[in-house]
Amino acid sequence: MRIIEAKNYDDMSKKAAEIIAAEVTLNPTCTLGLATGSTPVGTYQNLIKKYENGDLDFSQVHSVNLDEYKGLSGEHDQSYRYFMNTNFFNHVNIDKANTSVPNGLSEDAKEECAAYQALLERIGGADLQLLGIGGNGHIGFNEPSNEFKKGVHCVQLAESTIKANARFFETEEDVPKYAYTMGIGNIMNAKMILLLASGESKAQAVCDSFFGSITPQVQASILQLHPNVIVIADSDALSIAKEKGVF
Ligand code: PGA
Repeated sequence: MRIIEAKNYDDMSKKAAEIIAAEVTLNPTCTLGLATGSTPVGTYQNLIKKYENGDLDFSQVHSVNLDEYKGLSGEHDQSYRYFMNTNFFNHVNIDKANTSVPNGLSEDAKEECAAYQALLERIGGADLQLLGIGGNGHIGFNEPSNEFKKGVHCVQLAESTIKANARFFETEEDVPKYAYTMGIGNIMNAKMILLLASGESKAQAVCDSFFGSITPQVQASILQLHPNVIVIADSDALSIAKEKGVF
């Protein structure tokens, strides 16, 4: 695992975009595993800039997203399909037919999980998986638990996740209680993982995940076992690890 310290959010975003750009340049038909949330927005903006400058071509790139809220349609402005379209896909030349996000409106949760799992297996693991991290150490919506779930599953969101995400909704009650998420096994199948963390609210999770023991109570800690992980964390996100002298 390589941990790169960025000065701040903008620096983290630039560095992350450089790594994704290198992947797309080296492997124009790559599959990118993509993430939503506040953390990767700046990374997508930097990638869009590179595309607009003529430096990147996404025409043959495929993508798979980590998760989607159960019950939200792709047109809902808080759905992750909508997030991806508005923050990234609409601004580059990726073919939307080659982009996948779980369908939040599927009538049958089990079928949706099986269908998304089958799609991930067909694709065979992302070449590069982009991740944020929750304040509780979740990746995707793999919440603290007594186990690492391998496959796509429908998860009940942790109270802390609902509270953290309430900022995007009118009221906390509007935050969906369940989500579809790629399991840890699917994330670990990626050839390369790029995890981003910014701000003090992530400092404890960063310290526990990358400098502590491997436990399903801190789901990101499993990444210590992956052979090719790059963490780009800004100084605030590394503050507790530094205080403890482990970074
Ligand atoms: P954030 O979410 O980027 O909005 O902080 C990250 C996550 O919960 O995985």
